Amino acid sequence: MSTSPSNTQPDTNQSWGGRFSEPTDAFVARFTASVDFDRKLALHDIQGSRAHATMLAQVGVLTDDERDAILEGLNEVQADIVAGTFEWSVELEDVHMNIEARLTDKIGITGKKLHTGRSRNDQVATDIRLYLRDEIDTVAAELARLRHGLIELAEREADTIMPGFTHLQTAQPVTFGHHLLAWQEMLSRDHERLLDCRKRVNVMPLGAAALAGTTYPIDRHMTAELLGFERPAENSLDAVSDRDFAIEFTAFASLLLMHLSRMSEELVLWTSAQFAFIDLPDRFCTGSSIMPQKKNPDVPELVRGKTGRVYGHLMSLLTLMKSQPLAYNKDNQEDKEPLFDTLSTVQDCLKAFADMIPAIESKSDNMREAARKGFSTATDLADYLVRKGVAFRDAHDIVGRSVAYGLREGKDLSDMSLDELRQFSETISDDVFEVLTLDGSVAARNHIGGTAPNQVRAAAQRARDALGAINSGATNNGVTR
Ligand code: ARG
Repeated sequence: MSTSPSNTQPDTNQSWGGRFSEPTDAFVARFTASVDFDRKLALHDIQGSRAHATMLAQVGVLTDDERDAILEGLNEVQADIVAGTFEWSVELEDVHMNIEARLTDKIGITGKKLHTGRSRNDQVATDIRLYLRDEIDTVAAELARLRHGLIELAEREADTIMPGFTHLQTAQPVTFGHHLLAWQEMLSRDHERLLDCRKRVNVMPLGAAALAGTTYPIDRHMTAELLGFERPAENSLDAVSDRDFAIEFTAFASLLLMHLSRMSEELVLWTSAQFAFIDLPDRFCTGSSIMPQKKNPDVPELVRGKTGRVYGHLMSLLTLMKSQPLAYNKDNQEDKEPLFDTLSTVQDCLKAFADMIPAIESKSDNMREAARKGFSTATDLADYLVRKGVAFRDAHDIVGRSVAYGLREGKDLSDMSLDELRQFSETISDDVFEVLTLDGSVAARNHIGGTAPNQVRAAAQRARDALGAINSGATNNGVTR
């Protein structure tokens, strides 16, 4: 059915078909349509339209009656979408034209006035920002839940001793709580990055129209305020073309997933029979269809694997924007799928971790035994000798020879007798055993950032305070849609 005013017009697209002499090729229509994926933006599109219509009436471009009809119609459209009865049409190309067409079906000609003073170019940029802003708030809450779980677990494990590694070789004893708080630090930086990214998401393109602004007496500050945006975008050309905020979010997500993949890797190692440092409850693991004994740490493995797809989305978006001339280009339609998939991946991975971390069961005897075995107090012995006046280089050599002896004899440093130790240095006396114990070793690293149990407890408290401060400052735009 043609809605064109002229009967001589061919059956072209009702939103822009006026200058066309033949209908769009059926394949091209499908190829260029985005409704299959951009309908995710529907409720935010309506949110933006409500604010736009309200502003247009305020400045006298629409009458109050027209505005009321539009707002009422949008409520009905929204109800159809929420109820799942809205029929999306590929012929109508995208979410914006689907909604506008349905509005016009419902309220008649007034529906066609909604698009006054705007373009799909500023509309879509606004929709994505509104959508992403809400999603960021959900991601931030989940990230906070995960951080909180890590802090609690770290406190419970503040005294648990495990080997610390460099090069994945036993290095020095650390506390498990200290290790968990290292993860927490990574996530605290991600959290900061996310909230910083949100500031640049929260800028309003609407009013830029197609690219140059509009001739209507619009009030962009009013629209921005209605939508909870910090401010209108400064430059109309930049406003319709900028997708930095989506790239930034995906960069945040890439770093977050990189961190989760590192945590995953350690969880996978630690659940293996060879490490046996922790147990994950059965509900986070799966079995093997052939090997009955198997319990596989699928959740961390899968999170580790999901990292790749998020990195891929970051590359997609960076490449999408590379060399694009100002202002809007159809290329930009390709921004949505990578962004949407990044969002759902991040949310799933965070949920998996936030649920799983508090359920970790440590096998502290195994951890301690592993720390005891790997000459992990060798540095403590060297430091002991230095405190007794030996130069560090010489102390290093003395301990190196003690370790070589231990390797030959199958003994850890703490298993050796005083006489055995004194073969390598007369300076050693019986107070040496205090520093060769694991507990003495970790307790001695008693400074801010160190692994001593009391430092871990203090660090956990500081982390909890910092997280609380972020959460109480959490932004809620209080916008209803
Ligand atoms: N579906 C389009 C997108 O996602 C909306 C904007 C289209 N604007 C245009 N002039 N074709 O980018």
